[in-house]
Order: sequence, then C-alpha cells, then structure tokens
Amino acid sequence: MSETSIDEYAHLGAVAKEYVQCSIEQRIDYIRSPHWIGYPKAKDIIAKLDDLLTYPKRHRMPNLLIIGESNSGKTMIAERFVKMHPAYEREDNDGIVIPVLSIQAPPVPSESRLYSNILDKMFAPYRPSDSTEKKQFQVIRLVQACNVQMLIIDEIHSILAGNLEKQRVFLSVLRNLGNELKIPIVGLGIKDALRAMKTDPQLDNRFKPVLLPQWEYSTDYRRLLASFESVLPLKKASKLSKKTIALKLLSMSEGLLGELSELLSEAAIKAIETEKECIDLDILNSLEWLSPTLRRSV
Ligand SMILES: Nc1ncnc2c1ncn2[C@@H]1O[C@H](COP(=O)(O)OP(=O)(O)O)[C@@H](O)[C@H]1O
Ligand SMILES: [Mg+2]
Repeated sequence: MSETSIDEYAHLGAVAKEYVQCSIEQRIDYIRSPHWIGYPKAKDIIAKLDDLLTYPKRHRMPNLLIIGESNSGKTMIAERFVKMHPAYEREDNDGIVIPVLSIQAPPVPSESRLYSNILDKMFAPYRPSDSTEKKQFQVIRLVQACNVQMLIIDEIHSILAGNLEKQRVFLSVLRNLGNELKIPIVGLGIKDALRAMKTDPQLDNRFKPVLLPQWEYSTDYRRLLASFESVLPLKKASKLSKKTIALKLLSMSEGLLGELSELLSEAAIKAIETEKECIDLDILNSLEWLSPTLRRSV
C-alpha cells in the first residue's frame, strides 16, 4: 500500500483501517462484532460506578439504578465495567477475587432464584432444591470469600412480574443482602424499575436513579456518529455527522443506541455489497428497515 492510499482512510480508526483491506467476509464479520464507543453519558455512569466501587464500607451502602429504554446501552455499560474490573487469582493462590459480580434478575421476584443466579454466576455447586436459607448462607459466604465489592443486577424491572406482596418481600431481600454484605447494589432496568423501587421506601431512598436518555440531535450525537463511522471499515468517508444524514439516522433509529448500531451495520454491509463503499441516503432508503415503533405495531 502506498502512503496516499492509506491517507484515503483518514475517516477510519486504527483497527478499521486494518480491516478495510481484508476480504468482504472478514469486513462483514468485523462490522457485526460488538464495538464499544465511549460516549459522554456512558463515561459518566462508569465514573459513578467507579466511585461506588471504592466507597468506604458502611452499614447502609448507597445503591444505583441505571434507567433507560430497552436497547439504549445499559447492559453494555455493565459489561464494560465488569471488563474493567475482571476477576483475578489471589497472589497466595488461595482462591479468586471477583471485584464486580453481574447477574440477571430472576424473571419473577423470587429470593431463591436470585440466589441461584448468583451461585450460577460464581460456578458454585448447589442443588436447585436446596432451601432458600441454605442458598442464602452459601451466597453470603462465597461473596465474602471472593471479595465481591459490587453486585450488578440487570433487568431489575422483572420484580414487577410478581404481585405487590412478592415485590415487597424481594425488595427487602435486596436491602438485607446489601446491608449484610456492605456492598453497593446496582440495578439496570427500564423506567418501570423506578416504580418497583417505590414499593420499598427504605430501599427507594438508597437507589439513586441515573437516566440513560435516548439520543437527540446534538453535538454529542454527531460525535457518536463520527465514532461509529471510524469503526466501520468502509473505503470511502460517509460523513455521517452531516445534518441531513444525521437526522435521517435519528428518525430511523428513534434515538436508540442499539437501533442506531444495528442500522449502521446493515447500511455498512449494503455499502460493501453494492461496492458503493460509503453510507448515504440512497443506501439508507434501500434498506428494509422498520422503525422500532412500526416494528412493535406489526
Ligand atoms: N457503548 C456502546 N458503543 C457501541 N454500541 C453500543 C454501545 N452500547 C450499546 N451499543 C449497541 O446497542 C445494543 C444494545 O445495547 P444493550 O446494552 O444491550 O441495551 P440495553 O441493555 O439497554 O437493552 C448493543 O448490542 C450494541 O450493539
Ligand atoms: Mg439489557
């Protein structure tokens, strides 16, 4: 490759620059693989999580509730945070340290299933038929032994899948778990999760909500598009942050990060297949794309 042809790819980041020279299949695989973009709100939430992780231990630990529409990037933030604080072997080889433990909420507010999910995540042997007390004892012992400093519970709005009494009991279990372990609990969920938390006033006070909003037309949004452009290995610049195309992408994705990412992947693949090598309005119009609202209504 000559210097000039490399310069042609100035719109790309270092990895995409390498991929742009690969086969079509490799480029498409790369487009479909997940890419992390550190947009300001995500960085903000990660900084909040970092603060919580180093928070001095006390009986009433502060908790955090990350609220956003489905497909807005909540799980990806949690995964990123876990990756930043991976499990490691103790220096004395005496077991493993898991700084951040991330689990899914059970689909119904069940104490026993909450413990099962934690034990599964820690590869702990147990019998599903074990009593709730036994599982609770095992969870507390293991979480302490592995020096877990934060528990993340994704899809926490699942609490609402039970009647009010079950919700109330489940929330008091969360509260006691946090108190007993003296670690912050971070919940991730859709808006309804806020409503669920209100069922337990004592817990509600301690779950500080942070909102992961949908995208609007702004400088940050246009920067986000420029970042997406830099990871999509296309040979020509698409200039996604220009007003017309940026607005088109916003309306097609309805400001949801997951939709935007999916839409851009499909458009980039089409740009490769048609040898157009950039994303423009024609490519976007040629996609069989249903906006999230339309998709929900069919
Ligand atoms: N920081 C990010 N950078 C790039 N793409 C992202 C990012 N966060 C989310 N996405 C895209 O959005 C999709 C949905 O994100 P996810 O975290 O699963 O949303 P939620 O948990 O809110 O439903 C992901 O599969 C990914 O394609
Ligand atoms: Mg999720």
